[in-house]
Amino acid sequence: MNHSIPEITLNDGVTLPVIGLGTYKLKGNEGVNAIESAVDMGYRLIDSAYNYENEGTVGEAVRRTSVPREELRITSKLPGRYQQYDKAVTTIQESLYRANLDYYDLYLIHWPNPKQDQYVEAWQALIDAKKAGLIRSIGVCNFLPEHIERLEKETGIMPSINQIELHPYFNQAGQRKWHEEHNIKTESWSPLARASKLLQNETIQRLAIEHNKSISQVILRWHYQLGAISIPKSSSSERQLENISIFDFSLDETEMSLISGLTRPDGRLNNQDPAVYEEF
Ligand SMILES: NC(=O)c1ccc[n+]([C@@H]2O[C@H](COP(=O)([O-])OP(=O)(O)OC[C@H]3O[C@@H](n4cnc5c(N)ncnc54)[C@H](OP(=O)(O)O)[C@@H]3O)[C@@H](O)[C@H]2O)c1
Repeated sequence: MNHSIPEITLNDGVTLPVIGLGTYKLKGNEGVNAIESAVDMGYRLIDSAYNYENEGTVGEAVRRTSVPREELRITSKLPGRYQQYDKAVTTIQESLYRANLDYYDLYLIHWPNPKQDQYVEAWQALIDAKKAGLIRSIGVCNFLPEHIERLEKETGIMPSINQIELHPYFNQAGQRKWHEEHNIKTESWSPLARASKLLQNETIQRLAIEHNKSISQVILRWHYQLGAISIPKSSSSERQLENISIFDFSLDETEMSLISGLTRPDGRLNNQDPAVYEEF
C-alpha cells in the first residue's frame, strides 16, 4: 500500500514531503533495498550526503524503483573540506556522478565550519550550480542565524532549508522562530534522537498509550505539528511504515508543550555546537 505524505512548499517554489528517509549508515545492497522499500511505501524525500558515502546507493534505489524521478526529492550535502569555491563546484559534480543523477532536488552545506570561514564561497558555488540546473533547491545544515545573515548580506540569496539537530531533548525553539521569520523551512536531523533513551521517555510513553500509537510516532507527530520536516532513518520496512503513519491523530497544545518541555540546554546528542564544532 502506498501512503501519501503531506507536502510543503519552500521559498523557491519547490515542494517537499513533511517526512523523508534519513540514510546515514544505509549503504550497499542492503541500503538500496531499504531505500527502495521506503519509496515503494510512499517516501519521496531521501536525505544523503557526500560524507555518508552512499550517494551511489541512493542513485541505485532511484533507478530500481518504479516511481518516476520527478516525483522524488533527493538530497545531498557538501562536506566541510570542499567549501573552497572551485572544490565545491567539483564536489557537486562528483556527487551527481556518484549517484548517476542529472540533478539533486536539494543540496545543502553540511556544516558552517566558521573557523575555516569558507561557507560564503561554498554558498556561491551552490547558487551557481542551481543556475546551471544541477540543483533545484539550495540550503544549509547546522547554520546559526549569524551564518545565514552573512549569506544574505554577501550573496543576496537565502537558503530554502536549514537542517538542524532537533528532537524533544533539544527543541531549538529560538532557531525555529528565526527560521519562520525569515521564510526558511526547518528540517530535523536525528528526529528520534538516534533511538536513544528518548524512546523510553515516560511522558511520551504515556501520550503514546493514550493515542494508541508508538513513542516514535508521537515524536514524529510533534515534529510535524512544529512545522518541521523530519527525516527518520530506518533500515526496517516495518519501522519505516510506522514512521509515516502519523497523519491519523493529533496532539493538543498541552501535549505539544509537555513534549517541548523535555528540552534541556545540554540536550544535544554529541554536543555538536555549530558555533565551534567543525566537520570535514
Ligand atoms: N545534517 C547533519 O549534520 C546530520 C546529522 C545527523 C543526521 N543527519 C540525517 O538525519 C537522518 C536521521 O538522523 P539519525 O539517523 O542520526 O537518527 P534518527 O533518525 O533519529 O534515529 C535513527 C535510529 O532510530 C531507529 N529507529 C527508526 N525508527 C524507529 C522506530 N519507529 N522505532 C524504534 N527505533 C527506530 C533506527 O534503527 P533501524 O534502522 O534499525 O530502524 C536508527 O537506529 C540521518 O540518517 C541523516 O540522513 C544529518
